[in-house]
Amino acid sequence: MSGSTFGHKFRITTWGESHGAAIGAVIDGCPAGLPLEASDIQAFLDRRKPGQSKFTTKRQEGDQVEILSGTFEGRTTGTPISLLVRNQDQRSRDYGNIASVYRPGHADYTYTQKYGFRDYRGGGRSSGRETIGRVAGGAVASHILRELGIELTTYAKAIGPVTVPEEEYRFEEIFQNKLYMPSNQRAEEAAACLESMMKNLDSCGGVIECRVTGLPAGIGEPVFDKLDASLGRAILSIGAVKAIEIGDGIDAARLSGSQNNDAFFMEDGAVRKKTNHAGGVLGGMSDGDTLVLRASVKPTPSIAQPQQTVTESGDDTELVIRGRHDPIIVPRAVVVVESMTALTLADLLLQNMGSRMEHLKKIYQ
Ligand SMILES: Cc1cc2nc3c(=O)[nH]c(=O)nc-3n(C[C@H](O)[C@H](O)[C@H](O)COP(=O)(O)O)c2cc1C
Repeated sequence: MSGSTFGHKFRITTWGESHGAAIGAVIDGCPAGLPLEASDIQAFLDRRKPGQSKFTTKRQEGDQVEILSGTFEGRTTGTPISLLVRNQDQRSRDYGNIASVYRPGHADYTYTQKYGFRDYRGGGRSSGRETIGRVAGGAVASHILRELGIELTTYAKAIGPVTVPEEEYRFEEIFQNKLYMPSNQRAEEAAACLESMMKNLDSCGGVIECRVTGLPAGIGEPVFDKLDASLGRAILSIGAVKAIEIGDGIDAARLSGSQNNDAFFMEDGAVRKKTNHAGGVLGGMSDGDTLVLRASVKPTPSIAQPQQTVTESGDDTELVIRGRHDPIIVPRAVVVVESMTALTLADLLLQNMGSRMEHLKKIYQ
């Protein structure tokens, strides 16, 4: 199996299955001298942990991170950083009735077609638990960005039919509600929708938005590693994410050129834009404005309703997935979107260091 490594200069490899002994990541290319403690990474992991609200699964997963290598006396050494989270409370018997059938909306059928067999215990590599490695790595990448004055703010913009319009954003409320919405009032409305979803044994999707401030202009590598292309690859690699938008995204297709162009003007000797339809990306490079991206997340595929499917031996059957199921993935995926954005930006920032002779002279002369 290939495809578990992401990035060029700042590279992350995630490893592990949901029901294996442990799950984690190896980061190669992190500069030496970055202050880094396990608590920095734990703070990120705690945001994706199950059992935080009645809308997330009650499995008690400790998800305590251990740093196995790459730091000394609280700072990175420049060597590979190995991060490990031991799996606990992974009761295989909960998954007994799905061992030989394909769950609709899951990767069971495609894994079996590709590899000839699959680890049916909780989805193996396709499980949401795979994102633990990404989030642990994303915490390290975010730490680099913060040292450079680059800040990420990520939240649930929409849950089911409830959307928070931009004029209602209250960023200080994101961590005041369990759904990570930038409006406590909208979060209450969304919670009511989720209650009825749960009663109907159903699930819903939503939209996660990430805003990045402090990103200098020129980050992104034309032509195949453009900023928007790299973000697209990163965000679409997250399970259940079906689309990404940058700035106005698909709505830009319905605007005229005069509406969509962001006019430039000078302010205090710096080039600024009057609007930000572009979402902070021009020609595949950051333009110095706020980077805005949105990820569309599908409804949780595991639902408690009886579903029509087939067995591995080719018989039609009805499947009832036992256990408790999240009616929504979005709240737990907010930090995953933030992590993949941070990993992409850290990698592109390091790549950008070789873009001009003057940068190289600053380092080597
Ligand atoms: C953080 C996170 C948590 C997830 N939790 C669940 C879950 O509890 N139940 C579920 O059915 N799917 C969950 N998923 C989604 C499945 O892993 C995913 O839909 C499935 O592997 C099929 O992949 P695809 O949706 O990309 O096609 C989760 C995804 C993420 C990113």
